[in-house]
Amino acid sequence: MKKTILITGGAGFIGSHVVRLFVNLYPDYMVVNLDNLTYAGNLENLKDVEPRPNYRFVKADITDQETIQQLFRDFDFDGVIHLAAESHVDRSITNPMAFMHTNVIGTANLLNAARENWKDRFTDRMFYHISTDEVYGSLENGGFFTEETAYDPRSPYSASKAGSDHLVRAYFNTYGLPVLLSNCSNNYGPNQFPEKLIPLAINNILHKKPIPVYGQGENIRDWLFVEDHAAAINVIFHKGKPGETYNIGGNNEWKNIDLIRLLCRIMDRKLDRVQGESEKLITFVKDRSGHDLRYAIDAAKLKKDLGWEPSLTFEQGIEKTVDWYLENREWLQHVLTGDYEKYYERQYVKR
Ligand code: NAD
Ligand code: DAU
Repeated sequence: MKKTILITGGAGFIGSHVVRLFVNLYPDYMVVNLDNLTYAGNLENLKDVEPRPNYRFVKADITDQETIQQLFRDFDFDGVIHLAAESHVDRSITNPMAFMHTNVIGTANLLNAARENWKDRFTDRMFYHISTDEVYGSLENGGFFTEETAYDPRSPYSASKAGSDHLVRAYFNTYGLPVLLSNCSNNYGPNQFPEKLIPLAINNILHKKPIPVYGQGENIRDWLFVEDHAAAINVIFHKGKPGETYNIGGNNEWKNIDLIRLLCRIMDRKLDRVQGESEKLITFVKDRSGHDLRYAIDAAKLKKDLGWEPSLTFEQGIEKTVDWYLENREWLQHVLTGDYEKYYERQYVKR
């Protein structure tokens, strides 16, 4: 094998798309997917990848010092793409400490394992940390987030991600560890856990349940199709300049209420319902505490320096997404009933 790459959080939404891309694109890379399968980790996302000879799954916790050190010794990784995290803002409001533990301590633990095991052999290694646009705060008066925007995280989730970003830069500055960072806007697409807005709305429309809209639905997000994020990660991992940060975005801003209305129209058409039927499900509920008003990414650096831009329009991406959830109702059902957890037992424990 030419390279051995550790991908953390590979059983989650974005991670599973990154794992698939790397396994398919680089048959001469060994891809090790490390995930401790929290509620958000689902190995059913990777059924097609499972039998591939250049893929390995390891169930482990990124905060477990001994196990992580041992893995670095066993595999002598050439690169790390770090996605494992607690990722849902609402959960960070009810249980912030889980976010500090995984996102801050877990990242520190991985950085430390890389520093100790790669010591004096940093050439051709890379620690690539996947972060979020939420570290920049909320755009209340127009403009866009650039790589120079000052950090201003406002939720326990974004503060814990900001903390992990600072640690990554500290290891670059202090120890010379080769690192890359990227901060991406909201992803959507297949395999997203239905606690996040788009899959939650699709599922509720499908089952004619109320669609909860926080506040007045005026908040704005910049949406990117998940496979385009995975493609950007591939480009940055291979061509990015060590120590640099790249912003990734869809140049695709939507007010939540407009996005939900669009989903209602698409679903009515695909489910042969009368147009307007699903919109009746829209229900305004209590706003999220500290709800950031607007995120919008300026991804010009990534386009100029590395040539990346989104390959799909939002119209194409959202049609593909709705089709995927309608064609994969069993996946949705397994996630909602918790049955997906049994897949791991069948696949890895009972053999
Ligand atoms: P996700 O919640 O779908 O997946 C996270 C994965 O990490 C899960 O498989 C989970 O089991 C695993 N994990 C959690 N804690 C772990 C631990 N202690 N040890 C090992 N594995 C653990 O998240 P996602 O939406 O795919 O996001 C992936 C990364 O991308 C995160 O770092 C997130 O901050 C970042 N990000 C997400 C978005 C987005 O819109 N979803 C946008 C920008 C950046
Ligand atoms: O910007 C990148 C971030 O995007 C990632 O770092 C996070 O991991 C990811 O979860 C996402 O965060 P958001 O909070 O923007 O995503 P979420 O899908 O939870 O919410 C999108 C918007 O929709 C937000 O303004 C809150 C609103 N919302 C959300 C839910 C779940 C609702 O109105 N109703 C809902 O039921």
